[in-house]
Amino acid sequence: MESTHRNSSHPKAMPGFCLLLVVLFSSLTIPEIASSATIVKTLPGYDGELPFSMETGYIGVGETDSVQLFYYFVKSQRSPSLDPLILWLAGGPGCSALLAFFYESGPLSFIYDGYNGSLPSLRLNPYTWTKWLLEHPEYISNQMYVNGDSYSGVIVPLVIQHILDEPTEATVNWERRRSLREKTQDLLLSHNKDQAYWCRSYQQVLAGIWANDKTVQAALNVREGAKDFWKLCNMSLSYTEEISSVIEYHRNFSLKSELRALIYSGDHDMSVPHIATREWIQTLNLTLGDSWRAWYHNGQVAGYTEEYKLNDYVLDFVTVKNGGHIAALYKQEECSAMGDRWFAHYPL
Ligand SMILES: *[C@@H]1O[C@H](CO)[C@@H](O)[C@H](O)[C@H]1NC(C)=O
Ligand SMILES: *[C@@H]1O[C@H](CO)[C@@H](O)[C@H](O)[C@H]1NC(C)=O
Ligand SMILES: *[C@@H]1O[C@H](CO)[C@@H](O)[C@H](O)[C@H]1NC(C)=O
Ligand SMILES: *[C@@H]1O[C@H](CO)[C@@H](O)[C@H](O)[C@H]1NC(C)=O
Repeated sequence: MESTHRNSSHPKAMPGFCLLLVVLFSSLTIPEIASSATIVKTLPGYDGELPFSMETGYIGVGETDSVQLFYYFVKSQRSPSLDPLILWLAGGPGCSALLAFFYESGPLSFIYDGYNGSLPSLRLNPYTWTKWLLEHPEYISNQMYVNGDSYSGVIVPLVIQHILDEPTEATVNWERRRSLREKTQDLLLSHNKDQAYWCRSYQQVLAGIWANDKTVQAALNVREGAKDFWKLCNMSLSYTEEISSVIEYHRNFSLKSELRALIYSGDHDMSVPHIATREWIQTLNLTLGDSWRAWYHNGQVAGYTEEYKLNDYVLDFVTVKNGGHIAALYKQEECSAMGDRWFAHYPL
């Protein structure tokens, strides 16, 4: 299997995942409305109908649904009834799911070339992890994975522990976290035409221009007045609790044979270095299965990987070569290939 990956490019089959992206920490408070969902057929910036099924809406949380979370749901373009359902949480804390949607795993991305300051144009992302739902019980038996990058490394284990504590029909098969903590740039939304949109930070400015456009908000069915000004990452979130370590959660998960985990880290991540991540994984006292070796994409070393086990529990640690913090922002193609193989239970 390994040599197959080494000598030929991975089959170009589109990865098939249903992707549910949730904006955490939405501060919108509309107690009288519980939830809502709309099918989005077109989006400003994209010519014609979207060639994938997309739904947006609000999910109420809390006893009175007083907090309303905005979500994006994209149906797998392969076999939605069979493909895993991924709940994808963005980091920060305070980053929008649009960060993952446009820059990591979603079906659309911005066109930077020739960008002139008007409403950004969209194209299909060849490296999307989708190829559809919470209130769609037909997906309840699909494997479910909870995924997040960066600061979500703190939140994902709590979500999984909560699901384990209150089991539903759905089994959580997977959990992945990247880092304990990070500082995300406070991206400035600025309209200076001289800025270099090829630079990563400025590429992200396009998300702000797009998402603050009223026609876009109408197409996404964002409630009127919900946001005065949208920011990709809101770094001034007020929260009351901070968890300094989630290693204890991972220890508990390792005792559950129905779980599997993928922890990946860009090897150029200077805020949460992969060597530190590997160190805490080693404190879990798991047994080394597959030992440290390179993994390949298109005949090139794409990073290193090793596997840890405890009974039927498996934890794969993967580095992504040349990836910075939030590896998929830098190495979208490699991360897509990694996810594709891992979800299919192939060795990397
Ligand atoms: C900017 O580019 C868009 C197409 O991407 C075009 O429709 C629009 O006319 C251009 N605006 C200016 C001021 O050049
Ligand atoms: C950021 O979050 C705070 C609440 O923690 C809110 O008051 C503020 O309006 C938000 N800013 C943006 C730009 O969303
Ligand atoms: C780990 O599991 C033990 C035993 O079930 C439980 O008491 C403890 O609260 C769990 N730890 C966390 C962090 O949830
Ligand atoms: C791991 O093993 C070390 C050395 O045997 C021991 O001190 C430590 O308590 C163990 N940790 C866990 C989580 O079992």
